Amino acid sequence: MRIAPGPRSAPWSDLHAHAERLSAVPTRELFERDPGRFERFSRRGAGLLMDFSRQHLDEMVLGRLLELPEAVDLAGYRDAMWRGERINATEERAVLHVALRQRPGEHIGGAAIAHEVIEERERMLAFADGVRSGRILASAGKPFALIVNIGIGGSDLGPAMAVQALAHHARGAPRCEFVSNVEGCRLADLLAVADPHTTLFIVSSKTFTTLETLTHAQTARQWLRERLGETAVPLHFAAVSVNHHAMDTFGVHPEHRFKMWDWVGGRFSLWSSIGVSLAIAIGREGFLAFLEGGREMDTHFKSAPWGQNLPALLALIGIWNINFRDLPTLAVLPYEERLSRLPAYLQQLEMGSNGKSVTLEGRRADWQTAAVIWGGPGSNAQHSFYQLLHQGTPRAALELLLPAQSSCASDARHQLAIASCLAQAEAFMAGYPVESVRREFEREGLSGERREALEPHKVHPGSRPSTLIAFPRLDPATLGRLIALYEHKVFTQGVIWGINSFDQWGVELGKRLAGQLIASVRDPAGQPAAASGVQKVLEQLAEWRDAP
Ligand code: F6P
Repeated sequence: MRIAPGPRSAPWSDLHAHAERLSAVPTRELFERDPGRFERFSRRGAGLLMDFSRQHLDEMVLGRLLELPEAVDLAGYRDAMWRGERINATEERAVLHVALRQRPGEHIGGAAIAHEVIEERERMLAFADGVRSGRILASAGKPFALIVNIGIGGSDLGPAMAVQALAHHARGAPRCEFVSNVEGCRLADLLAVADPHTTLFIVSSKTFTTLETLTHAQTARQWLRERLGETAVPLHFAAVSVNHHAMDTFGVHPEHRFKMWDWVGGRFSLWSSIGVSLAIAIGREGFLAFLEGGREMDTHFKSAPWGQNLPALLALIGIWNINFRDLPTLAVLPYEERLSRLPAYLQQLEMGSNGKSVTLEGRRADWQTAAVIWGGPGSNAQHSFYQLLHQGTPRAALELLLPAQSSCASDARHQLAIASCLAQAEAFMAGYPVESVRREFEREGLSGERREALEPHKVHPGSRPSTLIAFPRLDPATLGRLIALYEHKVFTQGVIWGINSFDQWGVELGKRLAGQLIASVRDPAGQPAAASGVQKVLEQLAEWRDAP
């Protein structure tokens, strides 16, 4: 299936003209012209409300954007993904994370895959429940109190984000911690206070070859061996991987090993046994509800017309901002502290998937692709970088996430969060024009030089585009819906940009070079010189390292 990417289609060139047409019209004027703007530019679906009325677009723009999915046959690609075709062409792999969310009796990916998925899910959930309830015990017959997930990238960001997001569903479960960065400080901090008798390590690694993960796993193994003896070690490890041989060699207990498949990309793998730490935290019912939320969004993505389809609309709005309005960054701003790791999760999902500059045909993509994702929890961010969002020269697109109910504090407290979120959305959109500043000065009786000096500083230009994603509360099903929403957004954008969202060749080069450099780091003098700049830095570091 090879169709010209969206940027070579007719609607694309028209959209440039529309961007030009709208460039002199502030968003607040679009609101003034159209009292029905909220109804026209908001949608409800799969338990979410998406309000994109504060985006800098009108019906003509939306109409042209909605021609893009047709122009690139998005439905054809989507169905090919669901059928298990090898749409990850450079790695010759199917892309079937949607199969992980299927119910028993469905056949997504084919009967054999569906059977394996359900069987493995049940094994994993039985294990997770056993650990959670204390039925599965550590070597000395004690229940596990601390679970340490050892993994990185997709084998870390998803479970770490979700365990934090759903902490209020984890009462009574063992504490789950996550270790990823190679320098090992987090692991050292945890081991300094952990009780080996009640600690379970989960080695999460699709390949079981990742430097960071294997280094931490060996450290943990050594720590256990020194404290509990070799025979106890297998009872304190579980593992998730496609690499059965490596799990054997490491010595993971056969009942504590869980399968992965080549057709699940790391950054889409939270739904698989890579989510075992999440299942331990929130339990079987919670994990099934999380899968069911994702499945609901799948059904919506497959069945809703593009104009009502939340992932497609989110993707198209992103394309409008990135490709036509020169807004290359997207700030993700959850008004719920528990979602504070969501921006980091979406960095991998969006930038790892669509940070590409070569099309599926192997040609250079001479258009922008993924946005730079950043952000943080709304209230904190308001007191930090919102200054730049309101008045800075770099401009960003914004996504605000807002639950109706808090997952922890009282309603009264959460009402403050709701007010803050909506007030900011309005302020980003409407700004504070010079006329309003002048009226404020009149009211205050401010005049003269002080008034003149202050005036330009108080103006907020507005037209900072934001999309609000609101939902009843942060629970497992809602988190599932949100994550699947973003997964399908990424897929839609990748198809329109004509790139492969499912490979990641760009992370390999640095890994290879690090492997070559390690001998020089250990002994700069004893190795053939590294590239001259690198050699000089290594020598300086070695001098400091060896200093008394
Ligand atoms: O370096 C990127 C990457 O390959 C990701 O795609 C993956 O999620 C991560 O490393 C970890 O890989 P693994 O699960 O095989 O240890």
